Amino acid sequence: MGAGIIGIGRFLPEKVVTNADLEKVMDTSDEWIRTRTGIEERRIADDNTNTSDMAFAAAQKAIENAGITAEELDLILVSTVTPDRPFPSVSCMLQERLGAKKAAAMDISAACAGFMYGVVTAKQFVESGGFKYVLVIGVEKLSKITDWNDRNTAVLFGDGAGAAVIGHVKEGRGILSFELGADGTGGKHLYQDEYIIMNGREVFKFAVRQMGESSLNVLEKAGLTKEDVDFLIPHQANIRIMEASRQRLELPVEKMSKTVNKYGNTSAASIPISLVEELEAGKIKDDDLIIMVGFGGGLTWGAIAMRWGR
Ligand code: UT7
Repeated sequence: MGAGIIGIGRFLPEKVVTNADLEKVMDTSDEWIRTRTGIEERRIADDNTNTSDMAFAAAQKAIENAGITAEELDLILVSTVTPDRPFPSVSCMLQERLGAKKAAAMDISAACAGFMYGVVTAKQFVESGGFKYVLVIGVEKLSKITDWNDRNTAVLFGDGAGAAVIGHVKEGRGILSFELGADGTGGKHLYQDEYIIMNGREVFKFAVRQMGESSLNVLEKAGLTKEDVDFLIPHQANIRIMEASRQRLELPVEKMSKTVNKYGNTSAASIPISLVEELEAGKIKDDDLIIMVGFGGGLTWGAIAMRWGR
């Protein structure tokens, strides 16, 4: 039996910050943000809501959706670059809060590709038989490392969490192939000092190239072609980058997830949040072939070809 996603959940803070709100506090415009990024609004967590709180809310839903209990979890993997504090890890904090007594716990730092890294790591444990259930969470409170005086970055990001339980699925379903990669030489283009520092143009070029190539690579590894793809879930960084990936796969617009307009770039959370939204909207059905693909600071990237269903 293969490994796949058997439960999902998401959490988004209530507070909506629109482009019009940002126009009031920095030299930007709704028109610039929409046309250059596709973002219309984003969610920002309040001072009492930290990364672990959002992760906990998403995790509870995913565990319930999987039809298991927290006590059954063998491992918790939290992908984040905005942990509550350097240690203990967010995953250890969750282990306590969920009551996941037998679960091992560790955080993964792979920026926006973090959920891809988490799911692929979980797959190894599940397929090897070492663990039965692994909880993977992509979560960020990017607002706390955003320089609200830097219009180059402040308009792009949002807060949120998405979670998935990885377990055994029927033959032929689940993760069919994957690709993970890194290029530390590009680390200088996107990093955190006190706040996020980014060379947007360089990251843009890298993302357009890598998202397309990784999507095609996982298809080839799975022995499939572009025509087999039912749905694309790209990391929600910028609609122009996402469109380039969609065009590379020659998919119609309705076969690509788009949540960047509502939530901005939520880094490691963007792919699982989008997955939940598309499932709830009925756009992904059992046995659909979905491609998930992300890129981020590091530089890092990852892609997964998955046959949906348990
Ligand atoms: O998860 C990974 C995280 N990072 C990314 O995905 C970022 C990838 N890069 C991008 O999405 C795009 O490069 C950006 C959206 C960041 C920028 O778009 P761009 O089309 O590459 O714009 P640009 O950097 O070439 O800047 C164009 C102009 C500049 O003005 P000048 O120098 O031409 O006069 C900027 O100062 O737009 C200006 N600008 C803004 N204007 C209004 C930059 N940010 C803003 C803003 N409002 N918020």
